[in-house]
Amino acid sequence: MEVRLLLLALICLHAAPRWASAQQPEEATVIVKGSTRIAETDENYVCATIDWWPPEKCNYNQCPWGQSSILNLDLDHPFLAQAIQAFDNLRIRLGGSLQDRVVYDVGTESPCSPFRNVSNGLFGFSVGCLGMDRWDKLNDLFQKTGAIVTFGVNALYGRYNVRRSIWAGKWNSTNAYDFVKYTISKGYPVGSWEFGNELSGHGIGAKVDAKLYGKDVVEFKSILRQLYKAPLSQPLLLAPGGFFDQQWYSQLLQTSGHGVVNALTHHVYNLGGGDDVHLIRKILDPKYLDRAEDTYRDMQLTIQRHGTWASAWVSESGGVFNNGGLLVSNTFINSIWYLDQLGMASKYNTKVFCRQTLIGGNYGLLDTQTFRPNPDYYSALLWHRLMGNGVLSIDVIAPRRLRAYAHCRRQQLLDNRFRLLRICSTKMSAYV
Ligand SMILES: *[C@@H]1O[C@H](CO)[C@@H](O)[C@H](O)[C@H]1NC(C)=O
Ligand SMILES: *[C@@H]1O[C@H](CO)[C@@H](O)[C@H](O)[C@H]1NC(C)=O
Repeated sequence: MEVRLLLLALICLHAAPRWASAQQPEEATVIVKGSTRIAETDENYVCATIDWWPPEKCNYNQCPWGQSSILNLDLDHPFLAQAIQAFDNLRIRLGGSLQDRVVYDVGTESPCSPFRNVSNGLFGFSVGCLGMDRWDKLNDLFQKTGAIVTFGVNALYGRYNVRRSIWAGKWNSTNAYDFVKYTISKGYPVGSWEFGNELSGHGIGAKVDAKLYGKDVVEFKSILRQLYKAPLSQPLLLAPGGFFDQQWYSQLLQTSGHGVVNALTHHVYNLGGGDDVHLIRKILDPKYLDRAEDTYRDMQLTIQRHGTWASAWVSESGGVFNNGGLLVSNTFINSIWYLDQLGMASKYNTKVFCRQTLIGGNYGLLDTQTFRPNPDYYSALLWHRLMGNGVLSIDVIAPRRLRAYAHCRRQQLLDNRFRLLRICSTKMSAYV
């Protein structure tokens, strides 16, 4: 068996004094079991998000969004197209907190009005509007650059706020129906539609009961089946794009039933808020990083128990919530968190991992002002180009500071077909 190892060693500068002071180099044994695939990711595992936040979205006296949203991003910026094209096919997820307040400027809802910041609105904003001319321009960019699109639809449309964060009432599908229909009529290839954003469990801002949600997901599925007639291929339906809550997620699968939700999506913000002064310490603490593993494991178990037809996706993960950490999320140190999460999630059969954000906030892979790549952009590209979809079993006998993940080498399908029996060759990414 051919096993090729490629070590991508990221020397953590902040940990250097500890290493420098040790007289003896520490020993580590890493055993890659090249004959066992423990999980499989999608071919396009690396994914990045574009959000809806207007420039008025501020936290901790910082307003780091500028012109970086789905609605106002400069789509003609040459760096943007180049950054996407470098992946051949970059998966892009359009969504975020305000998606459940976006009305599509089509059918009975036309014309609609843009977001305004209002003190009593959900997340401090009014209902907003996606114009079809803007949707056309976004799709021009996606088609030109080979992006694979996930679009997050408004799952609060037609519901009402009962008290505090609780929203009730049936989802009104009219506007989503008209929007999907428009999208198909234009031939825009949306690969997956995600239903709602962070409305699961206790919700962030708003929450909806899992059984109610499950029934609405069934309705959305029937709309997709009705509108995507052969020879069009059916897009995937993703839900609920929120924080993992075992009971809520199980109920969603049970209520919606067999084959309805293709991928159960969840969000990962395991480092704290943008004002947390311990972000760097947490990123460098292996015990802290390890805690995220429980979520990936529980997600996998929930699917095995209640919905074997579904797969797991991370549809949004910025690490640090509320816009990311200034001078952390856009710097080299963040790759220690990011690459580790990519490795960890893949071990639990996560198919796709969407990084918040491609651009926008303090956590952009691209800088919000200059559109130049931040360090994590290169980490994402490295992963995409080196790590194939077969996840290998690996034993690491070393301090937990050494993070190692092994995947089959990324290769062309053609290559596979001619060497069917060959067990994959290996590439490994490791932290020291
Ligand atoms: C809306 O945003 C502007 C600019 O950030 C601010 O001056 C204004 O007070 C905000 N209004 C409300 C109602 O939050
Ligand atoms: C759903 O929303 C549309 C507007 O898009 C409205 O005309 C219709 O009456 C609503 N349906 C229900 C059942 O509320």
